Amino acid sequence: MLLALETSCDETAAAICDSGGRILASEISTQMELHRPFGGVVPELASRNHLIRVQPLILSALTQAGVRLGQVEAFAATSGPGLASSLLIGSTVAKSLAMAAGRPFLGINHLEGHLLSPFIGRAEGISPGIALIVSGGHTMLLQLRGAGDYMLLGTTRDDAAGEAFDKGAKMLGLPYPGGPLIDKLAKVGDATAFEFPRSMLDSRDHHFSFSGLKTSLLYVLPKLPQPLSEECLADLCASYQEAIVEILVEKTTRAARKLGQRAVSISGGVSCNSRLREAMQERCDALGLRLYLAAPNNTTDNAAMIAYAAWHRFQRGQSSELTLDVDPNWRL
Ligand code: KG4
Ligand code: ZN
Repeated sequence: MLLALETSCDETAAAICDSGGRILASEISTQMELHRPFGGVVPELASRNHLIRVQPLILSALTQAGVRLGQVEAFAATSGPGLASSLLIGSTVAKSLAMAAGRPFLGINHLEGHLLSPFIGRAEGISPGIALIVSGGHTMLLQLRGAGDYMLLGTTRDDAAGEAFDKGAKMLGLPYPGGPLIDKLAKVGDATAFEFPRSMLDSRDHHFSFSGLKTSLLYVLPKLPQPLSEECLADLCASYQEAIVEILVEKTTRAARKLGQRAVSISGGVSCNSRLREAMQERCDALGLRLYLAAPNNTTDNAAMIAYAAWHRFQRGQSSELTLDVDPNWRL
């Protein structure tokens, strides 16, 4: 049994997996409502709330899994990247439990958690291929060769895909975090109503850029009658979303073909986007690529993915020193 905590940003989460890497419990307490009035995450507010929420969440995960604390053989926590004051709560609690129980501690990279999340619960385990991580803070294209063996192919030159969603939503007057709302409004909009740029689509590298897209939304808005009609807002959402989705789908599948890979996996909060899931599936089907999607509740921040990544490391005999520091900029 392994207990994992995730407190890198504004979600407090605890999960338990068994010796086969199966997730027995995955509990999340979101602070979204708390930060919404500020239009983004307030670090001190986040860490203070992790402290309040983490202990009841651990108890509820143990109850859910039907496991006693004494049965837990290893304790894991996200140690970076993320907000330092938030990371410190989860990692300090996991280290304390490990120390008290005389069990190993594993400091896990949050991005490795996202990266492996599409394979949670799959009997075949991790499938090698091209992996796209799209979250609020990161956009990364990697070649996934196996657990612990990753090669970075490309990242974003400016904003992350989630930031492009959130900043675009803010310009449209939608509350934080705007990604899920754009997804919802886009369903009734026309994705061809507005022409947005597809930056770096034809660049020969595997990098991304989303700042031009954001700027073009900024220029188009003053030309439209204000306040925006419901129909116009939905069309803007659908067109803006389509630009992001097309870039992500094209660059990911091109990388797979270029590198002769037969599988694609996508993870991170943005991989919850319904249009991205649909478009990536269509493109992969057309190209004969196998697509691995994380379950929707494992796309945004959660502890199941941290437990799963920790389990793979624990299986290979790895653990971390209790002196391991948190690293807000820890690279995968
Ligand atoms: O992975 P995540 O929970 O946190 C980070 O590690 O950053 O990702 C959060 C991001 C936010 O930018 C949020 O707007 C975006 O994921 N997101 C979505 C959707 N659900 C979450 N973006 C577009 N469509 C969605 N359905
Ligand atoms: Zn994340």
